[in-house]
Amino acid sequence: MSKSKPIILVVDDDMSSLDAMCETLRRADYQVVPAHSGAEAFQYLSNNDVDLVLTDLFMPTINGMEIMNAARRNDPNIAVIIFTGHGTIENAVEAMKAGAFHYLTKPINIEELRLTVKKALERRELISENIDLKRKVDRKFGFENIIANSKVMQEILDTVVQIAPTRANVLITGDSGTGKELIANAIHYNSNRKNEPFIKVNCAVLAEGVLESELFGHEKGSFTGAIKSRKGMFEMADGGTLFLDEIGDIPLSTQVKLLRVIEEREFVRVGGMESIKINVRLIAATNRDLKKAIQDETFREDLYFRLNVVSLVIPPLRERREDIPIMVQRFMDEFCQENGKPSMTLRKEALEAFMKYKWPGNVRELKNAVESLVVRLKEPIITLDDLPSHIRQNDNIPSPALTVGLTLKEMEKDLIAKTLESVKGNKTQAAKTLGIGLRTLYRKMTEYQLDN
Ligand SMILES: Nc1ncnc2c1ncn2[C@@H]1O[C@H](COP(=O)(O)OP(=O)(O)OP(=O)(O)O)[C@@H](O)[C@H]1O
Ligand SMILES: [Mg+2]
Repeated sequence: MSKSKPIILVVDDDMSSLDAMCETLRRADYQVVPAHSGAEAFQYLSNNDVDLVLTDLFMPTINGMEIMNAARRNDPNIAVIIFTGHGTIENAVEAMKAGAFHYLTKPINIEELRLTVKKALERRELISENIDLKRKVDRKFGFENIIANSKVMQEILDTVVQIAPTRANVLITGDSGTGKELIANAIHYNSNRKNEPFIKVNCAVLAEGVLESELFGHEKGSFTGAIKSRKGMFEMADGGTLFLDEIGDIPLSTQVKLLRVIEEREFVRVGGMESIKINVRLIAATNRDLKKAIQDETFREDLYFRLNVVSLVIPPLRERREDIPIMVQRFMDEFCQENGKPSMTLRKEALEAFMKYKWPGNVRELKNAVESLVVRLKEPIITLDDLPSHIRQNDNIPSPALTVGLTLKEMEKDLIAKTLESVKGNKTQAAKTLGIGLRTLYRKMTEYQLDN
């Protein structure tokens, strides 16, 4: 928050109440911007920074929740206070859950308004200070590009922080588009090799002979076309990190040579005599099931163990749906900025469809979908109808694995555990999702020894 007067945007379609609130806040020495429609507020927010938004919940066309979401997209720490004339507990709960700082009911009590605004601004200042600190740390670790809201992704990032500074080889597995390359980058840039080379080789696109000369280099005349001797990727990566992407695709003959380099830390160029010593950290990635490849004898088990000193398994996006909203938001902001568009927002139903879709192409598919919406649409609010039909149709929710042999109790326990996990342990939310009372949930958690 700036040291100058805090800026407050006040949104109300009722002119007299808008005026009254603005007057009160001006007298309390704030800079006040009135907006008498959601559209006006939207426009102001897309071009200006504000410290606090005070908005009516129910207004024609754009409501208070949408304004709050737009404001928070520009600035996740913005303080938002929502008020309404039709105060019901449900509305208040919804607003607070969505991140509002406080909820007021009309007619607005002037003292309460002043106090709430003061508190909200104080809290915002505190958060901003903490965030500045956290950002510094994040930047140091080079994680600013990785979105990891789900528990499983946070655990993966924790592991990355721990193992990055070591020399241990890392094997990253996961479906296509789950972010393997992004993680490989994070490992290198978190290691003390970060100022040394980071060399990437895509093993899948190179034919057998070419792959070897790419990796190990070659001497002049070692094969037709080798008119000059050339350094390979291993030599280029000396002192740094070599990222072997699509490792599952390398032929067995190359696997043998790779194993030797890892074990002896030296190699000879193709057609060469002299052995060259190197100091390289290896990160390998694949979307293949290497254990199966070992069974099929297309991948050497000894090489697998050498590469898999640290194993990172990135789950598909549909198994960590908590990452979706924040990814959508971040990608939307990025693409809006890239395309010189004002910020956009996704209506609740549209976001729900995104949450339910199974994303076979994982984060890459999600990112592409968001980009195409940003490029294609003119309106700043994306509705369900704007989505491509395959995402809109929610008939692709994976059904729970029904295994004959499970008892009903076991299934119930499993469902409760998974629901709790999906809402990060928020029991009120879990009870709601499960369609049972909060007390019933507590009772069942005790019965099944699910921790509280
Ligand atoms: N957690 C994440 N946060 C932000 N962006 C992500 C995340 N995961 C993936 N992405 C983005 O999704 C796209 C695909 O990621 P990446 O190339 O790392 O996937 P991959 O697992 O290597 O895929 P493939 O197996 O097809 O090579 C990239 O644009 C990447 O920046
Ligand atoms: Mg990749």
